[in-house]
Amino acid sequence: MATGGVSLLDGPAVSAGAETFAEHQSRLGARPQFSGGSLIDIVDAAGLRGRGGAAFPTGRKWTAVRERSEGRAVVVANGAETEPLSGKDRLLLSARPHLVLDGVLLAAEAVAANRAVVYISGAHDDAADAVSAAIAERRAADLPVAITVARAPHRYVAGEESAVVAKLNGGAARPTLVPPRPYQRGVDGRPTLVQNIETLAHAAVIARRGADAYQRAGADGATGTVLVTMAAAIHSPGVLELPGGSTIAQAVSAAGGATGSVAAVLVGGYFGRWVAADDAWDLRLGVDVPLGSGVIAIFPHGRCGLSQAAALVGFLARESAGQCGPCEHGLASLATTTAELAAGTARPRDADRLQRWIAQIAGRGACHHPDGALVLLSSALRVFAGDVTTHLRKGRCDRDQATILPAPDWKARAR
Ligand SMILES: Cc1cc2nc3c(=O)[nH]c(=O)nc-3n(C[C@H](O)[C@H](O)[C@H](O)COP(=O)(O)O)c2cc1C
Ligand code: SF4
Repeated sequence: MATGGVSLLDGPAVSAGAETFAEHQSRLGARPQFSGGSLIDIVDAAGLRGRGGAAFPTGRKWTAVRERSEGRAVVVANGAETEPLSGKDRLLLSARPHLVLDGVLLAAEAVAANRAVVYISGAHDDAADAVSAAIAERRAADLPVAITVARAPHRYVAGEESAVVAKLNGGAARPTLVPPRPYQRGVDGRPTLVQNIETLAHAAVIARRGADAYQRAGADGATGTVLVTMAAAIHSPGVLELPGGSTIAQAVSAAGGATGSVAAVLVGGYFGRWVAADDAWDLRLGVDVPLGSGVIAIFPHGRCGLSQAAALVGFLARESAGQCGPCEHGLASLATTTAELAAGTARPRDADRLQRWIAQIAGRGACHHPDGALVLLSSALRVFAGDVTTHLRKGRCDRDQATILPAPDWKARAR
């Protein structure tokens, strides 16, 4: 990958484990210093957008926190990563912990924070161990701001930013009503920057390479690089770094190609959208199609897309924090009816009801959870419309109903 030195995964093989502080420094040099909030303009000019799902411009977020900080802001590096197929944040924490810590310290300096937390799922011990060891290594050498590690429950909504703040304030990791948003009043009532792990690693690269080089590393309308997790029917599943704006065809090829004929691609993880294979190949990541959590799942021909969609909507319904009616009851109804469609027990009017409910629920949760589920379901109903018709007519289609993308029952495990 030619990205002019703008890369998160350059250096020793990621399979070798955590890069030490000495290795990190000899490869990249010392963490650069910036006076006041001057890095914010550089991050802005680089065009960096958040990699936790919403693609919000990072420089704007830093400015909002800095304006309120008065030297007491908190930086939270969000490494919850409970998206079932995603592995990028865990990989960065496990293999490049010092790049992430550089990003945390640079962000802290830019927003005038005096405390930082790395927030990691309770299921990701490897990542937590690596970053804890990296913090210990730095204590002697380069740790101007106290950084601690906090663990999150492995539930889908635990990484939502208000849930992160609630957990760090001693409550449950469930989204809360906003405003105030974390940048206004977050951890301990202080202005809080909640930033995805990958976003922070990019900021550390931008601080070293500059905005122009970062922009040039992207292809065709995008800046910098992207981490994607390739999943399902692909020869080499796992995390890849690609120039931003790469097409889905390029991502598939970089992961060794699909294992067979492809029916559809799920782009962006379980809040992402299904795209029919023929429409997918030329889509540019982060330009024509949102990157979301960076997961690209290849769905093969011969499987029932409707059954897969029903399983995923069931997962998202189970993962509702159960606080808002449209989310708790709305997603449950969508999940039940989609499952009935997949099982061949639904009637034609149920398909219309699904569309009606989707329109009614849209925009009505306190957080983005239901909207994410709606994007997934409505795109599935479009892309797998043929399966829906067949199931309504004949009860089942002749495809394999077994699912290929996981839809775990974390709620049952917690009981
Ligand atoms: C239900 C839900 C779950 C989320 N989970 C994560 C997560 O695991 N990691 C993450 O970085 N962002 C997650 N987000 C997005 C965060 O709320 C927030 O936008 C993000 O951490 C901000 O960082 P960024 O600007 O660098 O993307 C989630 C959002 C929602 C609605
Ligand atoms: S929309 Fe769902 S996940 Fe979000 S706060 Fe409401 S109940 Fe919780």
